Amino acid sequence: MAFKIAIVGATGNVGREMLNILAERNFPVDEVVALASSRSIGTEVSFGDKTLKVKNLDNYDFSDTDICLMSAGGTVSQKYSPKIAAQGCVVIDNSSAWRYDSEVPLIVPEVNADAIDGFRKKNIIANPNCSTAQLVVALKPLHDRARIKRVVVSTYQSVSGAGKDGMDELFNQTRAVFVADPIENRKFTKRIAFNVIPHIDSFMEDGYTKEEWKVLAETKKMLDPKIRVTCTAVRVPVFIGHAESVNIEFENEITAEEARDILRDAPGCLVIDKHEDGGYMTPYESAGEDATYISRIREDATVENGLNLWVVSDNLRKGAALNTVQIAELLVNRGLLKGRKAA
Ligand code: A2P
Repeated sequence: MAFKIAIVGATGNVGREMLNILAERNFPVDEVVALASSRSIGTEVSFGDKTLKVKNLDNYDFSDTDICLMSAGGTVSQKYSPKIAAQGCVVIDNSSAWRYDSEVPLIVPEVNADAIDGFRKKNIIANPNCSTAQLVVALKPLHDRARIKRVVVSTYQSVSGAGKDGMDELFNQTRAVFVADPIENRKFTKRIAFNVIPHIDSFMEDGYTKEEWKVLAETKKMLDPKIRVTCTAVRVPVFIGHAESVNIEFENEITAEEARDILRDAPGCLVIDKHEDGGYMTPYESAGEDATYISRIREDATVENGLNLWVVSDNLRKGAALNTVQIAELLVNRGLLKGRKAA
């Protein structure tokens, strides 16, 4: 059986990656439709060896579409997802619009695949924040083994997480530094070239940013509401790939060697952890890859059962497009879709 798929936000960073990943993984596609705003009508995007012309999301009829992969931001999702879902098309949304809705499953297939059964309530499934996706892939197998009590995360997030405008800003500012042009801050609140910015998304009343709050709320929803999580989210001048320094406190004893063995066998994880120059992963090397890489696995002797990890992944892939396509595969593999066009 093959399915009709729509990509909303097909001209964006994540939308283009969704098209690449659907083609790479030979998703059973009957037809793919690329959608974006009216600004992009007729723009060409690639799907495998085919070229698709972008259509306007406004008034697009989803009644014969099986799955809509949505990555056009929260405001667009809030407006359009319920309408698309009401036409019988399952929406898998990459924005934060639906993640905290108790009637919408939030899924990382390696972590909580069974939660997908709840999707029929709204016909919407949420994809987590990019930083949370890679974090929970690494935490899940360790939690199963030694029960995590508390996690302290510091993120080093690439500019592609802020969309194609974020990538352009890093490029333009870097160039401006070299040719001594004035530096303009449009997308980020401070200069990102040759700098780091401890501010992603808006500030909340308690002084944390929304990005930091997302990491704790989403980890609790997907992994275990009892885990205590605190986070500092930082934007760094890297184009693609997020890194995270992760400090974990467990209920039960676990050695670094045991953690390394568990993570080596865990789905979605790849351990690169040699105690030598270059024996670890960096964001630059993760770009274009599917795995969540885990390096620098060490015991933290300052707490009873503690570990430190360095977790790296391509934020456009596992953090967004890949996870969304994996959710679509889960729907297909569990027989939860009928294939409306083919039927
Ligand atoms: P467009 O290129 O037509 O603006 P990124 O996060 O990389 O900036 O990408 C955002 C994506 O969301 C783009 O494909 C963008 O399309 C799309 N988008 C933004 N606003 C809308 C809208 N109102 N309707 C449909 N697509 C939208």
